[in-house]
Amino acid sequence: MKKYAIILAAGKGTRMKTDLPKCAYPLLKKPMIAYIVENLYKSTAIDELITVVGHKKEMIQGILNSRVTYAVQEEQLGTGHAVLMAKDLITEDGCTIILPGDMPLIDEVVIKEAMAFHEKNKNNLTVVSTILDEPDGYGRIIKSNNQLEAIIEEKDATDKQKLIQEINTGIYIVDNKMLFDALDNISSNNAQNEYYLTDIVKILKSDNKKVSTYMLKKSYKAMGINDLYALSQAEGILRHEINKKIMKSGVAMINPDTITIGDNVRIEENVTIAPNCVITGNSVIKKNAVIGSSTEIHNSIIGENVNIKHSLIFNSEVKENTTIGPFAHLRDGAIVGPNNRIGNFVEIKKTTTGNEFKASHLAYLGDAEIGDNVNFGCGSITVNYDGTHKYKTKIGNDVFVGCNANLIAPIIIDDNATIAAGSTLNKNVPKDSLAIARSYQVNKENYFKNKKNGQKKK
Ligand code: UD1
Ligand code: CA
Repeated sequence: MKKYAIILAAGKGTRMKTDLPKCAYPLLKKPMIAYIVENLYKSTAIDELITVVGHKKEMIQGILNSRVTYAVQEEQLGTGHAVLMAKDLITEDGCTIILPGDMPLIDEVVIKEAMAFHEKNKNNLTVVSTILDEPDGYGRIIKSNNQLEAIIEEKDATDKQKLIQEINTGIYIVDNKMLFDALDNISSNNAQNEYYLTDIVKILKSDNKKVSTYMLKKSYKAMGINDLYALSQAEGILRHEINKKIMKSGVAMINPDTITIGDNVRIEENVTIAPNCVITGNSVIKKNAVIGSSTEIHNSIIGENVNIKHSLIFNSEVKENTTIGPFAHLRDGAIVGPNNRIGNFVEIKKTTTGNEFKASHLAYLGDAEIGDNVNFGCGSITVNYDGTHKYKTKIGNDVFVGCNANLIAPIIIDDNATIAAGSTLNKNVPKDSLAIARSYQVNKENYFKNKKNGQKKK
């Protein structure tokens, strides 16, 4: 018996009132559809994942790539019609779990438990329901004698039905054959003129199939994101849950409500995170690191005992015992070595530094490879771009680059060289030498006295 999952992600998300297709919207910098797919994988309860795409399908496909198989719904005629588009891909007997793509808080535990409930009760259809204080906007669960009878959409509900607080989460587990037989019989005769997936309840019920609800206790997990307010609420819940878990694992957070950590981030024990930090993507923060306030880290590895203040670190790595910032910017594959000091207003791009490298103030390093024990003076830069191409700078070990030097790449500064302050170099510097490339100072004595009025300009 094969187990399929169908994720519905073809809709535009009209209520978001923006251009981005709804399921591509990020929470903590990760698209909501990615949460659903990752949690389905984590549940290990599913053999094959199918995603129904339609509106701006390239965007959804760009996010999920080959992690799923795609069915296309060219015209969005409703959730029932969307599931029908996957019919040809469901080739074997078994059951299918259907999930809306706008429900990012559903985790692998819910998926596992609902699947187990469905199997244990030998149901033909299980609808995952929950109780909400404010059920507005959701389909209501209609029961008689405590038995599931139907789901009524809010727009089709009577005032009395609208008082029902048990709602349809939009997750269903259903026998494959019965699902598609039922879908062949749904109509769009309703307030929205759509083919509602929810109508399969009535149809299977009238066919005497075994249909029931599985009640989800933690109702917040079933939150459907229909507008940008709901998105911010879901993000808030997720942020809180992630921070709680991380703090319990031995990470100190100062004012955690202001700290955002993505759900794929790994943080080791004894790390401290100050207010207003955002750490996302596949970042790893190793033991004893201190992440100072207002730091942003995305897809980066921060080594043990690293101390960061007010800095931006994207797609980069910082090795152990290094200090970064305030106001440093590491990006595009910067690999900063151990025991470095990267100080105020230093930008490092696609550059590797060795042990004990120092660029304490106002520097730019792009496309460079730097050895051990190098000092890069205040205001010095690698001139890596000629307007058309980028070139490499190579600096050996034990090099001292004085202040305000321009190293015009391609260039090699060999071991133990010293670059005089203010030099603009466009030739390689050999080992053990001093390079000076600047004009001589001229002092014109008594210059102001000899001027007509003998006054220095104010
Ligand atoms: C749906 C349910 C409702 C439930 C709620 C839970 C129906 C008719 N209603 O309502 O009972 O309480 O979810 O959140 O199913 N989609 C497509 N193709 C379409 C239409 C929708 O792929 O033609 C996708 C959307 O991209 C979305 C999902 O299906 O990810 C749900 O659609 P949405 O319009 O959000 O349904 P709701 O009105 O929230
Ligand atoms: Ca929805």
